[in-house]
Amino acid sequence: MWPETEVTTKLGIRYPIIQAGMAGGVTTPELVAAVSNAGGLGTLGAGYMSPEEMRKGIQEIRALTTKPFAVNLFIPQPVVENPKIIEEMNHHLDFYRQQLHLTKLSPEIPLFLDAFPRQIEVILSEEVPVFSFTFGALPQEILNKMKNAEITLIGTATTVEEGVYLEKSGVDLIVAQGWEAGGHRGTFLSPVAEANLGTMVLVPQLVNKVGIPVIGAGGIMDARGIAASLHLGAHGVQMGTAFLACKESGAHRTYKEALLYRKKGETTEITSVFSGRAARGVKNTFMAEMEDYPGQVPAYPIQHYLTADIRSSAARQEKIEYMSLWAGQGFSLCQERTARELMKGWVQETAQLFHT
Ligand SMILES: Cc1cc2nc3c(=O)[nH]c(=O)nc-3n(C[C@H](O)[C@H](O)[C@H](O)COP(=O)(O)O)c2cc1C
Repeated sequence: MWPETEVTTKLGIRYPIIQAGMAGGVTTPELVAAVSNAGGLGTLGAGYMSPEEMRKGIQEIRALTTKPFAVNLFIPQPVVENPKIIEEMNHHLDFYRQQLHLTKLSPEIPLFLDAFPRQIEVILSEEVPVFSFTFGALPQEILNKMKNAEITLIGTATTVEEGVYLEKSGVDLIVAQGWEAGGHRGTFLSPVAEANLGTMVLVPQLVNKVGIPVIGAGGIMDARGIAASLHLGAHGVQMGTAFLACKESGAHRTYKEALLYRKKGETTEITSVFSGRAARGVKNTFMAEMEDYPGQVPAYPIQHYLTADIRSSAARQEKIEYMSLWAGQGFSLCQERTARELMKGWVQETAQLFHT
């Protein structure tokens, strides 16, 4: 077991296990390096980082590992600003700010100066070996630059059509993100509700349609999920939720506890009320109440900025009911171990599953 696959050879790693890029502080340099040092591919989730923060993070990873690692970004979305919709939402959110004793009731919405080109420059100048992305395809000019720099490219598909589109665009590998997956949906060619295939059906259908390696993602929490994905034809797996509660994860303590000690009846749902873009997380008060919001939720990233003070204050005050608790459907299988222990266990147990 564990022969080379197209994923291990293209990425220069020992085991085809990728730790998902998770923007928002989860993917500390310690986590990324631990996964890469254990023979997988660690990923820095840099979607919300400034170019300066990215560079620092990359340099910190390099101080902890000589192995390949990836950096992950969001493909920018056209920003649709409607002042009336923003104003109404901002006013509505004041209720939650009051619950959290926030004095500043109207946060400044930043001008949407696009950091993406500068983030890309960091990846190029730091000679990052692998670049993964979500929410779309790379503009051709950037893709060409990445190819010239011999950076391996991983795109994210939530439908067969998106996978075919990404292959045509020139990526090297495709993450097939099933409906079970935690965090934001990568969907970019259809309405999110229509891009709802589970990992078990998305992976084999995509494998049949594309000529490049497919990486299964969504609901893979341990060796059973890894083995199943490989049996479905995936050449590797990408796991996010499974790393959230591990020691090196930068997730807030309260968030980790919510994952590790699931309450009866607690479940995950897909919502856009935190960020303006569909994402899966543990259902809490904010999600439930905001479902009844009568107006329109501003699009990403505006809603993400509008709720920023609520989410960060809630975390500081350990008020789990107002935090965004991104997680996949498999979250109750989270373990509080080191990333090295998790990787070691999955590698051994997957090998055993293939031999029985
Ligand atoms: C907390 C969290 C944050 C995430 N952030 C990102 C991100 O920044 N970029 C990205 O491509 N995917 C992101 N994802 C999705 C993962 O890449 C992956 O598709 C997902 O974790 C797989 O499903 P699983 O969570 O069940 O393992 C995130 C997932 C989680 C749980």
